[in-house]
Amino acid sequence: MASEIAVTSKPEPRVLSGIQPSGVLHIGNYFGAIKQHIEHQDRFPGEAFYFIADYHSLTTVGDPQLLADQTIGVALDYLALGLDPEKATFYRQSDVPEVTELTWILSCVTGKGLLDRAVSYKDKVQQGINASVGLFTYPMLMAADILIVRSTMVPVGQDQTQHLEITRDIAGSFNSAYDTDLFPMPDTLLNDAAIVPGIDGQKMSKSYDNTVPIFATESEIKAKVKRIKTSSTPLGDPIDPETDVVFQLFRLFGEPDEVEELRSGYLAGEIGYGKSKSMLREVMSGYFEQYRERRNELENDTDYVEDVLRNGAQRARAEARTTIDLAREIVGLSVRTRVGATR
Ligand code: ADP
Ligand code: TRP
Repeated sequence: MASEIAVTSKPEPRVLSGIQPSGVLHIGNYFGAIKQHIEHQDRFPGEAFYFIADYHSLTTVGDPQLLADQTIGVALDYLALGLDPEKATFYRQSDVPEVTELTWILSCVTGKGLLDRAVSYKDKVQQGINASVGLFTYPMLMAADILIVRSTMVPVGQDQTQHLEITRDIAGSFNSAYDTDLFPMPDTLLNDAAIVPGIDGQKMSKSYDNTVPIFATESEIKAKVKRIKTSSTPLGDPIDPETDVVFQLFRLFGEPDEVEELRSGYLAGEIGYGKSKSMLREVMSGYFEQYRERRNELENDTDYVEDVLRNGAQRARAEARTTIDLAREIVGLSVRTRVGATR
């Protein structure tokens, strides 16, 4: 039977993304996610939603103090890097508990087989992460994050595309089970940023101990750059920039003419690793310098940061409440007795 609940408010294009506070944010996160998030706040004024996915991080972070510290760390990083709370709604996932209720409602229209096919669960278990029910149902919570504010575009990296497919499946299952169009089908907004390599040449990731934090100190940068794996090309021989980690990192930070200088210097055998590493150190320390002062200020004004998160949660919760009220009514939960309803 068609749902009689009128879903009146068709959402505007709305962008949403989440980032886990499960480590210190690194330059892979910046170029692969954060930079685009901040750019989208101008493209979708008032319709960009970003949250710190602390419920998700409970699947991997068992130390309460660490979770709390990293959550604030993510907030400080985003705000220092230019997230503007006047333009984007920025909140902590756990301040919008409606998302867990929606997770349950969605779980009941989702076949377990859909989650059996999720690769990230298998990857994480293989990495040694505890195979909890939470880790298994992680994509359900992610679907609820997206659907609770009925977002239509989700900017994520390649590694998250399967989660978006799962979300669309779940939204479709709910809509067809209850013959409603409550949930829009969210599109993946794949950024075209290349995968940022870590100092060992693999993908930069907090799981591989190969990261450079966005707000690394001068001496951390020095130590990290020193450890970057290079080939054993003798000084004076050409170096292939395309396979060189120093170059891959340099081109994220350097101005086009600087990048060209390194490329041609490498190819001509005129620049070796000593020089290229010192060029990299310099651009890396300079690049985030402009944001560092702001981060220090914010660190000393945590009341402001808390205010931002509280206000963001208020806005997100208002949206979430509307969705959850509709969802409850559609599925028949807490439906107030209507005259004649019991006959
Ligand atoms: P990590 O790999 O360190 O655990 P996450 O999986 O928490 O990082 O990633 C958060 C966001 O940052 C995702 O959108 C992901 O696509 C992006 N990201 C992470 N590492 C990289 C990288 N090395 N290059 C590009 N994007 C990345
Ligand atoms: N799973 C995402 C990651 O690890 C984080 C995330 C949680 C997210 N909920 C989301 C991303 C909703 C986009 C939309 O990177």
